[in-house]
Amino acid sequence: MHALLEFPDPAATETAVSGGKGASLARLTQGGFGVPTGVIVPAESYRAFLATIPGLAELIAALTPEDATRLHAQCADIRTRLTGSPLPPAVDAALRERLPALLAGGRVSVRSSATLEDLVGAAFAGQHDTYLNVADVDDVIDAVRRCFASLWEDRAVRYRHEKGFAPDAAAMAVVIQRMVRSEVAGVAFSMNPITGALDQVVVNAAYGLGETVVSGEGGIDQFVLAKRTGDVIEQSISAKEHALVGGENGTERVAVDAERANASCLSEADLRALADMVRRVERFYAFPQDVEWALAEGDLHLLQSRPVTEFPERWTRDESAERFPSPVTPLTWDFTMDGFHESLTYSLELMGLPPFRGAWFDRFDGYVYGNQTAVQLFTAGQQVSFESMDELRGMRETLVEQYRWVQELPVTWARDLDRYLLALGRLGAVQLPALTDEQVWRQMRDIDALGRAYFLPNIAISITHGILHRTLYRLVHLLAGAEKAPVLYDALNSFSELKTSLVNGDLYRLYRLAVAEPALSSLLRDTDRRRVWDDRLLENYPRFLSAFRRFLDDHGHREVEFDTYVPTWSGQPWVVLENLRLMLMQGDVPDPATREGDLRARQSAAEREFLAAVPEELRNFSAELLRLARAYTALDDLEHYQTTRLNPLSRAAAVELGARLVKRGVLPVAEDVFFLRKRTLQRLMEEGAGDADATAEAAENRAAYEQQRATQPPRVWGQDNAPPPEGALRGLPGSPGAAEGPVCLVHGVEDFARFVPGSVLVARTTNPAWTPLFYSAVAVITESGGPLSHGAVTAREVGIPAVMAVHGALSALRDGEVVRVNGTQGAVSRL
Ligand SMILES: Nc1ncnc2c1ncn2[C@@H]1O[C@H](COP(=O)(O)OP(=O)(O)OP(=O)(O)O)[C@@H](O)[C@H]1O
Ligand SMILES: [Mg+2]
Repeated sequence: MHALLEFPDPAATETAVSGGKGASLARLTQGGFGVPTGVIVPAESYRAFLATIPGLAELIAALTPEDATRLHAQCADIRTRLTGSPLPPAVDAALRERLPALLAGGRVSVRSSATLEDLVGAAFAGQHDTYLNVADVDDVIDAVRRCFASLWEDRAVRYRHEKGFAPDAAAMAVVIQRMVRSEVAGVAFSMNPITGALDQVVVNAAYGLGETVVSGEGGIDQFVLAKRTGDVIEQSISAKEHALVGGENGTERVAVDAERANASCLSEADLRALADMVRRVERFYAFPQDVEWALAEGDLHLLQSRPVTEFPERWTRDESAERFPSPVTPLTWDFTMDGFHESLTYSLELMGLPPFRGAWFDRFDGYVYGNQTAVQLFTAGQQVSFESMDELRGMRETLVEQYRWVQELPVTWARDLDRYLLALGRLGAVQLPALTDEQVWRQMRDIDALGRAYFLPNIAISITHGILHRTLYRLVHLLAGAEKAPVLYDALNSFSELKTSLVNGDLYRLYRLAVAEPALSSLLRDTDRRRVWDDRLLENYPRFLSAFRRFLDDHGHREVEFDTYVPTWSGQPWVVLENLRLMLMQGDVPDPATREGDLRARQSAAEREFLAAVPEELRNFSAELLRLARAYTALDDLEHYQTTRLNPLSRAAAVELGARLVKRGVLPVAEDVFFLRKRTLQRLMEEGAGDADATAEAAENRAAYEQQRATQPPRVWGQDNAPPPEGALRGLPGSPGAAEGPVCLVHGVEDFARFVPGSVLVARTTNPAWTPLFYSAVAVITESGGPLSHGAVTAREVGIPAVMAVHGALSALRDGEVVRVNGTQGAVSRL
């Protein structure tokens, strides 16, 4: 066992070993970032320590997180036993051997690093102890024990319980690190956590040690920077009257003279350097980061980095308008969206991306909206950004290693496709009229389950398709220059083996058959297509009719709309006849096969040009990138083609259920089943009875749907741009959203007991001891701190709006007075 690990040790990069903070600092050290020297007391040392204390495991197992009073006593007992026991001899000896060198000529910080922290959706921001500026070996050893014990602070136990972790799931590692005597320090996010803008860096800074900023205890300067250039977009300077600095042993608060207090604590050059560092850290982790930094004698030091854990939703039609142009019925929505989000979870894991807890799509007024923040975050492919051939050369090996699954996925996908198609065949052969109601309902759920299992990796296919092409484009751009790149890229992708091309080829053959029979041509051109089909007018043309039937057999599952409510081609064959009419009207439609030959030739020529321009050592890599980009274009198209095979099957089952509900007197027409929610349909099928509420629900949803079809949805949903009313109190946006409620002023821990659940928490600060109140508050207002303080991070995690740094809030607001808190705008207004 290792009693201590050095930052450069490869074993130190595991979160299970070093905790979130320690593992990240080790990785950053190994990645060449300016991290102060340090060592890690690993989680095993903590476990070994625990094992030396009799009865402790039983105490931990008996904790009662729901009962705050009992919990308080239980936690105090556990902590006392930990701080009162000696460390295991091996750990103690290792520390005594290593610390003198670390302390030589300076001080250290002793920082908690729990194995559960920094998870997406659970940052554990500031939940555990940190000791700054510790001067001697015995004090360090004592601080290590206290850090171990801080895993058992009431608030940390409550937090783990809220997040659903078992009482003994966490272990504690401890980081011991050389102190930076910072003049200015703080936090920086590599994105804007309030608006979701990914092209901005937000910096919160104050004089002295960064503890002031993370704890939200004092005034801070806030800067919003353009990520690419580091230019200041917005700044807010506040009075920073005190600074926390290193003292003899520990820290002390000193006054800052008035002029300095009210001036910006960072220069433009500092800010540019910060933006640059944050950008590099984000790139290193390929994900937005929350960074703690310190500036001393002109040098920027990196003290911590963790993934940003919360992303504000921004609903737009940008991504969804193409795929979901029309409103979607409740039943289709309910059946598809769970599967969609399951696929998302599965796909992000497959792609090695952090999980995303929020919704990717939502439905407002019947229309589907995409969460633009998530789309940009996960599909932008920032993980493979490079700005020069040299940089790409440096990344090549890691990329190949990290993205091996990109080569494997098409193979496993094709294997699973067989299983899916066979199961579809079985479900498609079921004779619905012969089944009981219960069996039809089961059939519907079987189809859904099959679809979900099949669809799991499909989002990874679409996202990867996008990333491959963006990477290819970047490479082409580097090789050919801005002007020529679009043409070359286009030529490289002029032809792909698409299922869609195959369908178009088959459609072309139908067109040729129609052209060959002039009477048929004019029939298709001049008679209403629906009538042609309904009146069986095609029976006069048996050769065409049999080819047309085969076309529908092969491709009849092509959807006209995403919604299963709307039949596919096989359910409305006149839509295909309409396509043929358009071709006949156009006349002289060229054979796609001829065009294909030309395109292939153009593509090969472009490929030769491209590969010749690539440096020798990147040639194989580039050829493979090109191959994969094309393969994923085809795969993305095939995936979609095969997914829609579910539509006619689930539609048939739904309509069959609808027909039975017509008989029961619940619905006027079978197709109205699509206007029921899934849970209503489930109740009807599993409980058997007729239901007046269900009848009303279907009628209401149908009316809404028809009205929605006739309206144009707004491009962005729920944007509240109305300026805050006059007289509103202003502060910094801390956590987005808006909420209303009565004010509850909380001056200190002694007021906790009188906090009224459901009210707006107004406090001077929100250091982590206060976070338990967040679970029962509707919004938070603080007098100090900023959006990057731990309190704001926690408000975003809990999902309540917060406005920070509202000067004089405690005196301006009265207990019980009702206010509206707009955390997006940073405003508080009285109602
Ligand atoms: N070695 C150091 N030199 C200078 N400042 C330090 C050092 N270690 C910690 N600090 C300051 O103390 C702050 C708090 O420390 P730390 O990150 O350990 O705890 P926290 O931010 O309160 O909680 P957590 O990071 O666990 O959520 C840091 O943000 C940094 O500003
Ligand atoms: Mg920290």
